[in-house]
Amino acid sequence: MIGLISTYGQGGRVMLPRGVYAPQGDSLLLRDALDREEVGTGTAVLDVGTGSGFLALAAARRGARVTAVDRTRRAVLTTRLNAAVAGLRVEAVRGDLLAPTVGRRFHLILSNPPYVPAPDPALPLRGAARAWDAGHDGRLLIDRLCDTAAGSLHPGGALLLVHSALCGVPATLDRLKRGGLSAEVTDRRTVPFGPVLASRREWLLDHGLILPGDDKEELVIIRAERSR
Ligand SMILES: C[S@@+](CC[C@H](N)C(=O)[O-])C[C@H]1O[C@@H](n2cnc3c(N)ncnc32)[C@H](O)[C@@H]1O
Repeated sequence: MIGLISTYGQGGRVMLPRGVYAPQGDSLLLRDALDREEVGTGTAVLDVGTGSGFLALAAARRGARVTAVDRTRRAVLTTRLNAAVAGLRVEAVRGDLLAPTVGRRFHLILSNPPYVPAPDPALPLRGAARAWDAGHDGRLLIDRLCDTAAGSLHPGGALLLVHSALCGVPATLDRLKRGGLSAEVTDRRTVPFGPVLASRREWLLDHGLILPGDDKEELVIIRAERSR
């Protein structure tokens, strides 16, 4: 089933089949961070975990050469469809994080990966939760991305990553630095718990990830740059 969703002004409209992540607060925070970057016709952009292609399309609209990767076939097909409907060129490929583009380098990597701490210690193999669940600490994919991003960036290139502060901002900054990048938090936004966090409040409390009464989380943008 395909639904139509308005994606807040500049994003236009994207087709959204069931099971494909609907752009939301984290997508918008990352889109705002993308807007602050110098992006033009010569810019090679990689969107890792593209979902509907919302961010890939935003970069393509500014003239960038965009590659978009997602683990699910449905997201890849949706991104291709949304690019075609918008008259934009986006190369959308299926695969695991940076694996489909190994050997290539980009000026800008965008990622809104799954980052929600989950009762299941492993990544889900099927279902919509593949878009958000990421192990007990929410870091199963973030850590892999932090460890490997530098090798996919041109000198002077940057990674823009969004995640919840629940998964540990210092851990991301340390990991990126150990991976060879300089990294800092460039934006923050506090948002109410969505339905997924609200539904696992007890589990989050038991694991010391939230305090009694917490009903908001902080989203952060981390910008990590490779030296020139
Ligand atoms: C939070 S959604 C973000 C979607 C979109 N970028 C946005 O901001 O609206 C995370 C996306 O990552 C994809 N994903 C999950 N695991 C992945 C992996 N190992 N490699 C690539 N993509 C993955 C999911 O299928 C989902 O589309």
